[in-house]
Amino acid sequence: MELIVNGVKHQLDVTPDTPLLWVLRDNLELTGTKYGCGLAQCGACTVFVDSKSMRSCVTPVGTLEGKKITTIETIEEDDLGKKLVAAWVKHQVPQCGYCQSGQVMAAADLLKKNPRPTEKKIEATMSNLCRCGTYNAIKAAIRDVADISDEKSKKD
Ligand code: FES
Ligand code: FES
Repeated sequence: MELIVNGVKHQLDVTPDTPLLWVLRDNLELTGTKYGCGLAQCGACTVFVDSKSMRSCVTPVGTLEGKKITTIETIEEDDLGKKLVAAWVKHQVPQCGYCQSGQVMAAADLLKKNPRPTEKKIEATMSNLCRCGTYNAIKAAIRDVADISDEKSKKD
């Protein structure tokens, strides 16, 4: 089958029920996307499929032919991704770091849909788990990016 990942077409010899996460990590060596629970619970495996966030551990590749898959490896190719990574660094968000690629993808999804989320919206939307308890730093980084967007929009 053919998969389009980060703008590149790949021919893959895999069965349609193989989870996307396995293909990303084992076949394509894109190891930024992490395996946490394997049960669509933790969000460590979050990627975009046609700009919608998906949990790749439970997404069979057979459902993805012709769709555009984006992983953390290319998150900084747009302005929002660049701002998010910069805010993550500024707020020193990661502890062990394991969950953080999924957290950044989830934050990108949130801010694409809603550039100025309320505190409640951030809390309701950011459902990815972090065993190190970086939730406050994640919220601070998201707020930072939202405020930058807000200042820009006032000038426009
Ligand atoms: S590894 Fe996919 S949600 Fe936890
Ligand atoms: S930073 Fe360690 S699990 Fe989130």
